[in-house]
Amino acid sequence: MDSEAKTMTAVLTTGSGGIELRRIAVPQPGPEQVLVKVIVAAQNPTDWKTVINFKRKGNVVGCEFAGVVALVGENVKAEEVQVGQRVTGCVHGSIKPNGAFAEYLVAPSHLLIKLPDHLSFEQAAQVTIASTTAYCCLYQALSLPLPSDSTTPVTGSLLIWGGNTSVGRLTIQLAKMSGLQRIISTSSPQNFDSLRKLGATDVFDYRDPLAGEKIHLCTSGSLCMAVDCISEGTTPYQVSTALSAAGGTIATVNPYVSRKNGIETILTLVYTMLGNAFEFPIVYEPDPRQVEIGKRICQTVAVLLAGQQIQLGPVKIIPRGLVGVAEGFEFMKRGAVTGEKIVYRIADTPALDFIDAVL
Ligand SMILES: NC(=O)c1ccc[n+]([C@@H]2O[C@H](COP(=O)([O-])OP(=O)(O)OC[C@H]3O[C@@H](n4cnc5c(N)ncnc54)[C@H](OP(=O)(O)O)[C@@H]3O)[C@@H](O)[C@H]2O)c1
Repeated sequence: MDSEAKTMTAVLTTGSGGIELRRIAVPQPGPEQVLVKVIVAAQNPTDWKTVINFKRKGNVVGCEFAGVVALVGENVKAEEVQVGQRVTGCVHGSIKPNGAFAEYLVAPSHLLIKLPDHLSFEQAAQVTIASTTAYCCLYQALSLPLPSDSTTPVTGSLLIWGGNTSVGRLTIQLAKMSGLQRIISTSSPQNFDSLRKLGATDVFDYRDPLAGEKIHLCTSGSLCMAVDCISEGTTPYQVSTALSAAGGTIATVNPYVSRKNGIETILTLVYTMLGNAFEFPIVYEPDPRQVEIGKRICQTVAVLLAGQQIQLGPVKIIPRGLVGVAEGFEFMKRGAVTGEKIVYRIADTPALDFIDAVL
């Protein structure tokens, strides 16, 4: 770390549902944490939603990043991660003075993915949230065989609703590696081919009001497993409709209860892998099991990335670094994201007069 860097530029919550750019102190890593110099931050829907829903002032926005380790806490072992290593990871942005839309952040050492040389920071920034969510949906919620344990093809069908989301694209690829023979998904029609290349066998248009019924019919009413990568709006109804009359399990990314008899929904929440207590909106206590699972997922994903076994989606680089976050939020809020990941290069942020930096 540059020993002169005591303060940094960061995107902060205003406390009234807005964001502003300010200079604040560089955070210091705790014993099990590392300080990361953020090179690229990636945007997720949770970023703008949390700014609006949790109106607290002075928290740093942004959950996902790629960067270089600048300092390690006293308990971080050299075999885990070292200063100078290129990593990608996630933090819980907008709820405390630490987040990805900043020049530096502190992150737990167990939830970092080491980057192979061939992968750019721009590409890598999108990996952690999508891959940890996809893993938990497939292997915790639905108890499917891990790719490493998959010796025989898995019979039966899996529905991955919202296959063109960041989470969906990873979920399709992992499900294929696990030996799923039939992977049904939904997207806009122009993305059907792209999802088939990732491993989907059947793709339906999610805007078709009969998509749920059509999936139910094409599986002869036998579908009993789904990952709902949207989990809001009409998808609880659509995904439930696709499932068998006998019921089944839906892995969700936002909380909901299905109104159809016999269907269990199981929520994945990435933040539970960070290892600390948090309020979102209910209180979650630290969960050592989730920490261990997160650590194992990061190790596995590092191997998959090194072997170029994961295909990452295109990125959309918003100009002017952190100054562009307001523009990126508006783009995502109006539903303009279609398969690409919005990212910010921190070095693109222009020097600012901090007297008037409301975004
Ligand atoms: N619980 C967790 O830990 C967790 C983790 C990650 C994400 N999430 C949540 O998961 C959701 C998705 O996040 P993301 O970052 O993966 O999304 P994203 O990449 O921003 O998703 C964009 C894509 O969503 C697709 N889409 C939009 N509406 C759809 C619908 N009704 N049905 C099917 N597909 C639809 C569009 O596909 P087309 O381009 O084909 O139209 C679009 O390309 C968000 O609500 C997010 O907050 C939760």
